[in-house]
Amino acid sequence: MQYQWYPGHMTKAKRQMQEDIKLVDLVVELVDARIPVSSHNPDIDELGKQKSRLVLLNKADLADEAKNQAWCEYYKAQGSYAVRLDARNRGGMKAVQAVIQEACKEKIEKNRRRGILNRPVRAMVVGIPNVGKSTFINSFAGKACAKTGNKPGVTKGKQWIRLNKQVELLDTPGILWPKFEDQTIGLHLAWIGSIKDELLNKEEMAVELIGELQNSYPGILEGRYGISEETEPVAVFEALAQNRNCLKKGGGLDYGKAAALLLDEFRSGKLGRITVEAPPAAG
Ligand code: G4P
Repeated sequence: MQYQWYPGHMTKAKRQMQEDIKLVDLVVELVDARIPVSSHNPDIDELGKQKSRLVLLNKADLADEAKNQAWCEYYKAQGSYAVRLDARNRGGMKAVQAVIQEACKEKIEKNRRRGILNRPVRAMVVGIPNVGKSTFINSFAGKACAKTGNKPGVTKGKQWIRLNKQVELLDTPGILWPKFEDQTIGLHLAWIGSIKDELLNKEEMAVELIGELQNSYPGILEGRYGISEETEPVAVFEALAQNRNCLKKGGGLDYGKAAALLLDEFRSGKLGRITVEAPPAAG
């Protein structure tokens, strides 16, 4: 199974981001908490290397809480700020606000020393499609925030959302295209629904997911579907199709339907909070 992306979009998006990044002090990168490695595009490390960095481990509500914590520790050890988040929940935004302030404190202090007191720090949100960028911007900005734009010195057309006296956010997020020479990354992106299902072999994806769950979350398939996990993934898949009555009209098991069901239950959290990618071990 081969996963492909569209180079035309990629080049344009990257060029736009190179321009936008010049305007900001802080890069806020959203990754998907279930697959923080695969949902991170390493280009941003190069593009944002002069900037403060904040990683938002988004959709943390769908991910394993122990691994969310481990990931936050990992990012901090790497010198990035990190917060785990459910971007749909406005209640979580205070913590983000506080961390942004912290991440930009050197810049604020530098401005203060130069006698510049009223210049807000500027941030932009980046991430791969569907990771929750728009949801985050809406929750974070809320209704109270005024949009500002087309000020002298600001690139024409850029809209900034004034969050408070100290922070402004670029209202259009930067889209990073997933990068995957490595097919495992493609597979993980496909599991969370970041690649159009029509392009993929869902049955193959489902069998691979079963293998992963058998290894990393033993008991989860048995608990949900009442099927034995003590066999090969393909046999587990067959049992699942049977258990959930996924049948073709003319008779026989409907594997397409069974695959769609498993993937949907994984993506929506019905299977439980699952993180596929753990942080590299310390040391
Ligand atoms: P994008 O701008 O990065 O492309 O992502 P967007 O905000 O559009 O979010 C994509 C989907 O993810 C949305 O679902 C949104 O509600 C959901 N989402 C965003 N943040 C979180 C989170 O922290 N937790 C959970 N569980 N979901 C989140 P949608 O529009 O309903 O699409 P879909 O769910 O039908 O695919």
